[in-house]
Amino acid sequence: MTLIMYKVFETVDDVSRYTAQRLIEKIKATPSAVLGLATGSTMEPVYAKLLEHIQQTPMDLSQLTTFNLDEYMGLNPQHPQSYNYYMYQHLFNQLDIPVNHVHLPNGLASDIEAVCSAYSDAIQTLGGLDLQLLGIGSNGHIGFNEPKTCFNSRTHVVKLSEQTRIDNGRFFAEQSEMPTHAITMGIQDILEAKEIILVATGRNKTDIMAQLFNSEIDEDLPASALKQHKNLTIVLDREAATLLPAQALKSAI
Ligand code: GLP
Repeated sequence: MTLIMYKVFETVDDVSRYTAQRLIEKIKATPSAVLGLATGSTMEPVYAKLLEHIQQTPMDLSQLTTFNLDEYMGLNPQHPQSYNYYMYQHLFNQLDIPVNHVHLPNGLASDIEAVCSAYSDAIQTLGGLDLQLLGIGSNGHIGFNEPKTCFNSRTHVVKLSEQTRIDNGRFFAEQSEMPTHAITMGIQDILEAKEIILVATGRNKTDIMAQLFNSEIDEDLPASALKQHKNLTIVLDREAATLLPAQALKSAI
């Protein structure tokens, strides 16, 4: 039996404070931790809380290493919708993590295959991810691993699903600017993280969280791969947890 720890909070603020606190504890316990980081609107308040904490209680981040989950293909790192830009805006510009310890997939690389395999190799060379932070797409994607991605996948190029292009197109001035492809860490890379925290908040995550709860482990629902993991915490606000049965909230599946 796999144990999934559910933490449900009343507000996004509480969710974000708790998640940031978990990151802080990891860094305190292991200053040379390798963190897997995520983007998306869910993570913005998490990073804000993390910064707030570090600004009040400075920490030595000189040994920390980060790997982001994914990046759009074809977007310049300075493009306001690139995940590179997002990470520097919301986190890295304000933190003293050595620049060569920060990793994001290069969506402009010409030799994409080499870039993908080097990305997964770099994670493994450092001993794997100590903690992976995840959001979830409304279709159950993690990173940009869309439905039907093999669970043994490593960093690879994906064609974004229609659903994802609709969901994420809202951030682009024109829907047509939204990239069609992305690079993402694979599901196997994610599953090898020693600890995983998945965060979901708000009404538009209610259905997928219920589907995830009820689903078997199935490649049609990428996040269901996480049910195999030994150290997974799912952090939700009350809205995202609306359709979860009381038994989920008591922690066991
Ligand atoms: C993007 C990212 C995912 C993220 C998802 C959810 O598709 N590739 O890693 O989990 O968005 O985004 P949001 O938090 O904005 O709902």
